[in-house]
Formats: sequence, C-alpha cells, structure tokens
Amino acid sequence: MALREIWDRAAQAWGNFAASPDHDHLYWAFHRLRFLDLLPPPGRLTVDLGAGEGRLTAELARAGHRVVAIDSSPAMVSRAVQRADVGRALVGDASRLPLPDSVADLAVAFMSLQDMDDLAIAVAEGARVLCPGGRFCLAVAHPVRSAGGFESKDPGSPFTIAGSYFERQPWPWRHSHSGMTISIPSEHRPLEAYSAALEDAGLLIESLREPAPDPEAVAGRPPLLRWTRLPCFLHIRALKPPR
Ligand SMILES: C[S@@+](CC[C@H](N)C(=O)[O-])C[C@H]1O[C@@H](n2cnc3c(N)ncnc32)[C@H](O)[C@@H]1O
Repeated sequence: MALREIWDRAAQAWGNFAASPDHDHLYWAFHRLRFLDLLPPPGRLTVDLGAGEGRLTAELARAGHRVVAIDSSPAMVSRAVQRADVGRALVGDASRLPLPDSVADLAVAFMSLQDMDDLAIAVAEGARVLCPGGRFCLAVAHPVRSAGGFESKDPGSPFTIAGSYFERQPWPWRHSHSGMTISIPSEHRPLEAYSAALEDAGLLIESLREPAPDPEAVAGRPPLLRWTRLPCFLHIRALKPPR
C-alpha cells in the first residue's frame, strides 16, 4: 500500500498524537520553535506540504505567513479545515501540486518528506511553485535515527545500526506512551537522498541543522533524554536561485 494511503487511514490516530504535548513532546517542547527559527520572514505565499491536521500551518499563520496547507489525505485535510487557526487547506498530492508555477516565496515540508512515496518528485514540485529567490525548508526524522534504534529506554542506551545506513527501507516508526500506541511506516533514506533531491530540483542548501532538545526540555522523560546525545531531526533551508 502507498504511504499516502496509510496516512489517510491514520488521520485520527495522528491527530490525537500530534495535538498532545504529552505524546508528541519533542514537537511542543522545542522542535517547532527551532524550525520556525530557520524560516525566512513571511512573504506573499507560504505552501505547507504534507500539512497533516494543520498544527504547523497554524503556527505559520500566527507568525504572519499567508499560508496554504496541502496534504494528500482527505481525512487530514477535513480536520485542518475545521480549525479556526488554519486558513486555506487543499487535498493534493505533493507529486502533483494543485498550484501554478512561481506563486510562492516559501515552501515548507515539516516532517512529511520521509512519509511521501516519491521524495524527488515532491521536492521538484516544491521548487516549481517557488518564485526565483524563494526558499524550500524541510524537517525530517534524522537519517541516523531512522537507520537504527536504541537498545533500551535508558538515557545512556547504546544505539545500533544493524543493517545498512545507505539502503532505503521501510521505517516502522512507533510511539507508545501513557496508554497511546501509534505505529506508521515511513521510509528511511540516507542524508544524500535529501541532498540529491534538492540538487536535482536546482535548489541550493543555505543552512543545515541537527536540532537537539536541551536536557531541561525533556526533564522527567528519561527515554527522550537519549535525544540529547544523538540527532533526532534534520532541518534544511534551501534557496531557489534568483534568475
Ligand atoms: C508526519 S505527518 C506530518 C504532518 C504535519 N506536517 C505535522 O508535522 O503536523 C506526514 C503527512 O504527510 C502527508 N503525506 C504523505 N504523502 C503525501 C503526498 N504524496 N502528498 C502530500 N502529503 C502527503 C500525510 O498524509 C501526513 O499528513
């Protein structure tokens, strides 16, 4: 089954997880703020690719962006349009965006490219809708994280990559905490796959970051302390060169 179909079926479970600081603790404690720091100031249009139920779209709108949320899942988009803090939300596949060329000055893909069936086409489409001088900003699960796993929940646990870092493979991402279990297959891709997709789309990397939580942000959550030692997220800001 295609990843986009799996995500459509998971919309309710994802919505419950994504909205809860107890469950998606890293997002609420620091991740969204570090990503917002990477973005250029609001311009004429920001496109949020793989926007889900719209939590980051709402943050962008609060920060002054005129934003359109796009997601391939009708169930996700119907949740997004019910929110008062999300503006426009459209059902659309990132591989075939329902937007003309050069309409946006910012395309954002926050924690969604690892969940898209075709990374290269999604990035090329993001680049197509950007005007020259526009930025493509992405956040994904760090490729080191999706290549392996911790051996235990102990803060000092060793981290093992048993298979190949370089090989693309299904990544069965799983969260289980305080009565909630959610399990969704994303795809592990090495760092070079993201860099190549940007390069092939004619985008130039301006900034690459590996944001980690401060120990205070994960105090009282010993398993999350492991992410103060190893990279959990990868952020990239890339430029579509001016003509
Ligand atoms: C992990 S969720 C992230 C949602 C949102 N950006 C957030 O962080 O709250 C990944 C999203 O990517 C969407 N998605 C997967 N494949 C897609 C595609 N081909 N085109 C557009 N969206 C897609 C899924 O439906 C899902 O909503």
